[in-house]
Amino acid sequence: MKNKQTSLIFTIVILFLVYACGSKKEATNTEDYGTPKDEAAPITAVDAITQGESLVKASDCKTCHHVINKIIGPSHTDVAKKYDFTKANVELLAGKIIAGGSGVWGEIPMAAHADITQADAEKMARYVLSLDGEREH
Ligand code: HEC
Repeated sequence: MKNKQTSLIFTIVILFLVYACGSKKEATNTEDYGTPKDEAAPITAVDAITQGESLVKASDCKTCHHVINKIIGPSHTDVAKKYDFTKANVELLAGKIIAGGSGVWGEIPMAAHADITQADAEKMARYVLSLDGEREH
């Protein structure tokens, strides 16, 4: 009888330990996935896109570009679909926003924007590239 009780207590202790270790492991995993560093990156990216949207809306882009419809230039959503949302394409399109150019979408030229800084042009490009729902990768 005593022996049975001891093994019952022993089993309970073991179960408790397994449970305790199990939850400790879970807690460690949560920490791994939720470090502040991991969370900081998307927020910064979202900020750049939001600022880019304001810059595009404050500039003359809307004379030639609509979000969904082609006007004089391609719709910004079509631009987003054509290009992958990568750092290289952000730089490529920022260069095009500043220098202007033609021949990618047709013969109508894109006006140059020499007064827009590289940093602002990259935010604008990030906003445009985000329009198809893609995230920078
Ligand atoms: C005078 C009209 C005009 C204005 C103003 C204009 N665009 Fe454009 N944009 C165009 C045309 C036309 C094209 C297509 C050029 C081509 O075929 O290479 C274009 C192309 C683009 C592209 C795609 C470039 C490529 O190589 O695929 C982006 C991005 C873009 N414009 C962003 C902007 C932004 C941001 C602004 C505002 C700062 C702006 N555009 C202002 C006419 C304009």
